[in-house]
Amino acid sequence: MTTATARPQEAPGIHPLLARRWSPHAFDPLHTVTEGDVERLLEAARWAPSAGNSQPWSFVAARRGEPDHQRLVRHLAGSAARWAPSASLLILNLAHRLVDDSELEYSEFALYDLGQAVAHLTVQASAMDLAVRQLRAFDRAALAAEFGVGPGWLVTTMAAVGVPAGAGAHADAHTGRRPLSDLRWPTGPASVRPASTAGHPHPEKEER
Ligand SMILES: Cc1cc2nc3c(=O)[nH]c(=O)nc-3n(C[C@H](O)[C@H](O)[C@H](O)COP(=O)(O)O)c2cc1C
Repeated sequence: MTTATARPQEAPGIHPLLARRWSPHAFDPLHTVTEGDVERLLEAARWAPSAGNSQPWSFVAARRGEPDHQRLVRHLAGSAARWAPSASLLILNLAHRLVDDSELEYSEFALYDLGQAVAHLTVQASAMDLAVRQLRAFDRAALAAEFGVGPGWLVTTMAAVGVPAGAGAHADAHTGRRPLSDLRWPTGPASVRPASTAGHPHPEKEER
Protein backbone atom coordinates (compact mmCIF):
# COMPACT_ATOMS: atom_id res chain seq x y z
CA MET A 1 0.00 0.00 0.00
CA THR A 2 2.75 2.46 0.93
CA THR A 3 6.37 2.77 0.03
CA ALA A 4 8.07 4.12 3.15
CA THR A 5 8.06 3.24 6.81
CA ALA A 6 8.09 5.54 9.82
CA ARG A 7 10.75 3.62 11.69
CA PRO A 8 13.89 5.37 12.94
CA GLN A 9 16.15 4.47 10.04
CA GLU A 10 13.51 5.76 7.62
CA ALA A 11 12.76 8.98 9.49
CA PRO A 12 16.04 10.90 9.52
CA GLY A 13 16.20 14.05 11.57
CA ILE A 14 13.05 13.71 13.61
CA HIS A 15 13.25 13.47 17.37
CA PRO A 16 13.93 9.96 18.68
CA LEU A 17 10.78 10.12 20.82
CA LEU A 18 8.78 10.46 17.62
CA ALA A 19 10.93 8.19 15.47
CA ARG A 20 10.69 5.25 17.83
CA ARG A 21 6.95 5.55 18.36
CA TRP A 22 4.87 2.78 16.87
CA SER A 23 1.59 1.06 17.62
CA PRO A 24 1.92 -2.49 18.90
CA HIS A 25 -0.75 -5.08 18.29
CA ALA A 26 0.15 -7.09 21.39
CA PHE A 27 0.96 -5.90 24.90
CA ASP A 28 2.75 -7.58 27.78
CA PRO A 29 -0.11 -8.76 30.04
CA LEU A 30 2.17 -8.75 33.09
CA HIS A 31 3.40 -5.18 32.76
CA THR A 32 1.74 -2.63 35.00
CA VAL A 33 1.76 1.15 35.21
CA THR A 34 1.39 3.13 38.41
CA GLU A 35 -1.23 5.75 39.15
CA GLY A 36 1.68 8.23 38.97
CA ASP A 37 2.37 7.08 35.41
CA VAL A 38 -1.28 7.67 34.53
CA GLU A 39 -1.09 11.16 35.97
CA ARG A 40 2.05 11.98 33.97
CA LEU A 41 0.37 10.84 30.76
CA LEU A 42 -2.74 12.91 31.46
CA GLU A 43 -0.54 15.85 32.48
CA ALA A 44 1.01 15.73 29.01
CA ALA A 45 -2.45 15.81 27.46
CA ARG A 46 -3.42 18.66 29.77
CA TRP A 47 -0.70 20.93 28.39
CA ALA A 48 -1.64 20.45 24.74
CA PRO A 49 -2.66 23.59 22.83
CA SER A 50 -6.32 24.14 21.99
CA ALA A 51 -8.41 26.73 20.18
CA GLY A 52 -9.00 29.63 22.59
CA ASN A 53 -7.53 27.41 25.31
CA SER A 54 -10.89 25.64 25.28
CA GLN A 55 -9.35 22.33 26.44
CA PRO A 56 -12.25 20.31 25.01
CA TRP A 57 -11.15 16.94 26.32
CA SER A 58 -11.85 14.47 29.06
CA PHE A 59 -10.59 10.96 29.68
CA VAL A 60 -11.63 7.73 31.35
CA ALA A 61 -8.32 6.17 32.34
CA ALA A 62 -8.30 2.68 33.83
CA ARG A 63 -5.41 0.39 34.60
CA ARG A 64 -5.73 -3.33 33.96
CA GLY A 65 -7.37 -4.88 36.99
CA GLU A 66 -9.33 -1.78 37.96
CA PRO A 67 -13.15 -1.92 37.79
CA ASP A 68 -13.36 0.74 35.06
CA HIS A 69 -10.97 -1.30 32.92
CA GLN A 70 -13.53 -4.11 32.82
CA ARG A 71 -16.23 -1.60 31.90
CA LEU A 72 -14.10 -0.43 28.94
CA VAL A 73 -13.11 -3.93 27.83
CA ARG A 74 -16.73 -5.07 27.79
CA HIS A 75 -17.45 -2.81 24.80
CA LEU A 76 -14.41 -3.55 22.62
CA ALA A 77 -15.23 -4.86 19.18
CA GLY A 78 -13.83 -7.79 17.22
CA SER A 79 -10.06 -8.02 17.02
CA ALA A 80 -9.47 -5.20 19.52
CA ALA A 81 -10.86 -7.48 22.22
CA ARG A 82 -8.00 -9.86 21.44
CA TRP A 83 -5.14 -7.42 22.07
CA ALA A 84 -6.29 -4.27 23.88
CA PRO A 85 -7.27 -5.84 27.24
CA SER A 86 -3.68 -6.93 27.92
CA ALA A 87 -2.40 -3.36 27.70
CA SER A 88 -1.45 -1.92 31.08
CA LEU A 89 -3.83 1.01 30.68
CA LEU A 90 -6.86 1.87 28.59
CA ILE A 91 -7.91 5.47 28.04
CA LEU A 92 -11.23 6.52 26.57
CA ASN A 93 -10.97 9.90 24.84
CA LEU A 94 -13.93 12.28 24.97
CA ALA A 95 -14.40 15.52 23.02
CA HIS A 96 -16.49 18.40 24.32
CA ARG A 97 -18.87 19.21 21.47
CA LEU A 98 -21.85 21.13 22.88
CA VAL A 99 -22.31 23.74 25.63
CA ASP A 100 -24.24 22.31 28.58
CA ASP A 101 -25.81 19.68 26.33
CA SER A 102 -27.49 22.48 24.32
CA GLU A 103 -27.36 22.81 20.53
CA LEU A 104 -24.59 25.40 20.89
CA GLU A 105 -21.22 24.14 19.69
CA TYR A 106 -18.60 24.22 22.45
CA SER A 107 -15.71 24.40 19.99
CA GLU A 108 -15.59 23.73 16.27
CA PHE A 109 -12.06 22.43 16.84
CA ALA A 110 -12.91 19.99 19.63
CA LEU A 111 -11.90 16.88 17.69
CA TYR A 112 -8.76 18.56 16.38
CA ASP A 113 -7.74 19.59 19.88
CA LEU A 114 -8.54 16.22 21.43
CA GLY A 115 -6.28 14.68 18.79
CA GLN A 116 -3.48 17.02 19.79
CA ALA A 117 -3.92 16.15 23.44
CA VAL A 118 -3.72 12.44 22.65
CA ALA A 119 -0.66 13.06 20.47
CA HIS A 120 1.00 14.79 23.44
CA LEU A 121 0.10 11.83 25.62
CA THR A 122 1.57 9.48 23.03
CA VAL A 123 4.90 11.32 22.96
CA GLN A 124 4.98 11.39 26.76
CA ALA A 125 4.40 7.64 26.72
CA SER A 126 7.33 7.26 24.33
CA ALA A 127 9.49 9.22 26.80
CA MET A 128 8.38 6.79 29.53
CA ASP A 129 9.31 3.77 27.36
CA LEU A 130 5.65 2.97 26.90
CA ALA A 131 3.90 2.32 23.61
CA VAL A 132 0.39 3.40 22.62
CA ARG A 133 -2.00 1.96 20.08
CA GLN A 134 -5.02 4.14 19.50
CA LEU A 135 -8.25 2.44 18.50
CA ARG A 136 -11.76 3.09 17.43
CA ALA A 137 -12.93 -0.52 17.36
CA PHE A 138 -15.50 -0.35 20.12
CA ASP A 139 -19.18 0.37 20.64
CA ARG A 140 -19.34 4.16 21.09
CA ALA A 141 -22.99 4.30 22.10
CA ALA A 142 -22.58 1.53 24.64
CA LEU A 143 -19.56 3.25 26.20
CA ALA A 144 -21.40 6.57 26.32
CA ALA A 145 -24.18 4.83 28.22
CA GLU A 146 -21.72 2.95 30.43
CA PHE A 147 -20.01 6.15 31.62
CA GLY A 148 -22.97 8.51 31.51
CA VAL A 149 -21.62 10.60 28.63
CA GLY A 150 -24.36 13.04 27.62
CA PRO A 151 -24.92 14.54 24.17
CA GLY A 152 -22.54 17.43 24.91
CA TRP A 153 -19.58 15.08 24.84
CA LEU A 154 -18.48 12.70 22.10
CA VAL A 155 -16.92 9.32 22.81
CA THR A 156 -14.18 9.48 20.19
CA THR A 157 -11.28 7.01 20.44
CA MET A 158 -9.39 4.89 22.92
CA ALA A 159 -5.69 4.54 23.60
CA ALA A 160 -4.13 1.30 24.80
CA VAL A 161 -0.88 1.92 26.68
CA GLY A 162 1.76 -0.58 27.74
CA VAL A 163 4.87 -2.37 26.59
CA PRO A 164 4.91 -4.45 23.39
CA ALA A 165 4.99 -8.22 23.71
CA GLY A 166 6.07 -10.97 21.36
CA ALA A 167 6.07 -11.22 17.60
CA GLY A 168 2.37 -10.36 17.51
CA ALA A 169 3.23 -6.84 18.54
CA HIS A 170 4.47 -6.23 15.00
CA ALA A 171 1.58 -7.96 13.23
CA ASP A 172 0.45 -4.88 11.37
CA ALA A 173 0.91 -4.26 7.68
CA HIS A 174 -0.32 -0.70 7.92
CA THR A 175 2.68 1.16 9.22
CA GLY A 176 4.13 2.53 5.98
CA ARG A 177 3.92 6.18 5.06
CA ARG A 178 3.24 8.25 1.98
CA PRO A 179 6.45 9.78 0.62
CA LEU A 180 7.40 13.20 1.98
CA SER A 181 7.01 14.70 -1.50
CA ASP A 182 3.33 13.75 -1.41
CA LEU A 183 2.66 15.83 1.73
CA ARG A 184 3.07 19.23 0.10
CA TRP A 185 -0.01 20.61 -1.55
CA PRO A 186 0.87 21.82 -5.08
CA THR A 187 0.59 25.60 -5.21
CA GLY A 188 1.56 26.41 -8.81
CA PRO A 189 -0.96 28.14 -11.12
CA ALA A 190 -1.86 25.06 -13.18
CA SER A 191 -0.90 22.45 -10.67
CA VAL A 192 -2.82 19.22 -10.42
CA ARG A 193 -3.06 17.35 -7.18
CA PRO A 194 -1.09 14.12 -7.67
CA ALA A 195 -2.91 10.91 -6.89
CA SER A 196 -2.03 9.72 -3.41
CA THR A 197 0.24 6.71 -3.35
CA ALA A 198 -1.35 5.56 -0.13
CA GLY A 199 -4.64 4.48 -1.63
CA HIS A 200 -7.78 4.10 0.48
CA PRO A 201 -6.96 2.59 3.85
CA HIS A 202 -10.28 0.74 4.22
CA PRO A 203 -10.04 1.22 7.97
CA GLU A 204 -13.37 -0.44 8.69
CA LYS A 205 -12.08 -3.65 7.21
CA GLU A 206 -8.64 -3.48 8.79
CA GLU A 207 -9.25 -2.18 12.28
CA ARG A 208 -12.21 -4.09 13.62
C1 LIG B 1 -7.92 7.55 15.38
C2 LIG B 1 -7.22 6.22 15.28
C3 LIG B 1 -7.97 5.06 15.30
C4 LIG B 1 -7.36 3.83 15.23
N1 LIG B 1 -8.12 2.69 15.35
C5 LIG B 1 -7.51 1.49 15.39
C6 LIG B 1 -8.28 0.32 15.63
O1 LIG B 1 -9.49 0.37 15.84
N2 LIG B 1 -7.64 -0.88 15.63
C7 LIG B 1 -6.28 -0.98 15.43
O2 LIG B 1 -5.77 -2.07 15.45
N3 LIG B 1 -5.52 0.13 15.21
C8 LIG B 1 -6.10 1.36 15.19
N4 LIG B 1 -5.34 2.49 15.03
C9 LIG B 1 -3.86 2.38 14.87
C10 LIG B 1 -3.44 2.65 13.42
O3 LIG B 1 -3.81 1.55 12.62
C11 LIG B 1 -1.91 2.90 13.39
O4 LIG B 1 -1.62 4.07 14.11
C12 LIG B 1 -1.44 3.02 11.95
O5 LIG B 1 -1.51 1.77 11.32
C13 LIG B 1 -0.01 3.54 11.85
O6 LIG B 1 0.87 2.70 12.53
P1 LIG B 1 1.91 3.27 13.60
O7 LIG B 1 1.10 4.00 14.66
O8 LIG B 1 2.62 2.05 14.16
O9 LIG B 1 2.84 4.20 12.89
C14 LIG B 1 -5.95 3.75 15.09
C15 LIG B 1 -5.19 4.92 15.07
C16 LIG B 1 -5.82 6.14 15.17
C17 LIG B 1 -4.96 7.40 15.18
